[in-house]
Amino acid sequence: MERTYLMVKPDGIQRGLIGEIIAMFEKKGFKIVGLKMLRISRELAEKHYGEHKDKPFFEPLVEYITSGPVAAMVIEGKAAVSAAREMMGVTDPLKAAPGTVRGKYGIDIGRNVIHGSDSPASAQREIALFFRENELVAYSRDVDRWVYE
Ligand code: RTP
Ligand code: MG
Repeated sequence: MERTYLMVKPDGIQRGLIGEIIAMFEKKGFKIVGLKMLRISRELAEKHYGEHKDKPFFEPLVEYITSGPVAAMVIEGKAAVSAAREMMGVTDPLKAAPGTVRGKYGIDIGRNVIHGSDSPASAQREIALFFRENELVAYSRDVDRWVYE
């Protein structure tokens, strides 16, 4: 089993999409092991998006992600990282497949509603950045025998 870091961005919160988005991952069969609201500081934003610090969109990206509260979550399941990226859709919402989070809910690339880790290594790094170990809950679900064969 694998864990990944997902985050409903400030536009998703303002637009009332937290429930819809969590429900997509929950109904898919993933287990939610971490969940909280927070307001990201500039320092945390710069760390989280550090790989983009030399890109022209870095400053607007930091402004965007710190512009209001976000909903942070960690989900767990088979191939969680790649499956969540597929379910999110590509970065530009106008190019994202119908049925994906960005395909359903976004238009502009700088308002693309959701973040998800892009690799298992990024997932580890981002989970550690946003959650303390004791905020992640290990538990079993009886339904898992109906999700996994
Ligand atoms: P994220 O990290 O937020 O999940 O998004 P991503 O992997 O799909 O895309 P990434 O390349 O990591 O870019 C991070 C965020 O920066 C904004 N962006 N703007 N104007 C642009 O060309 C541009 N490119 C990226 C987007 O908000 C993107 O989600
Ligand atoms: Mg990314």
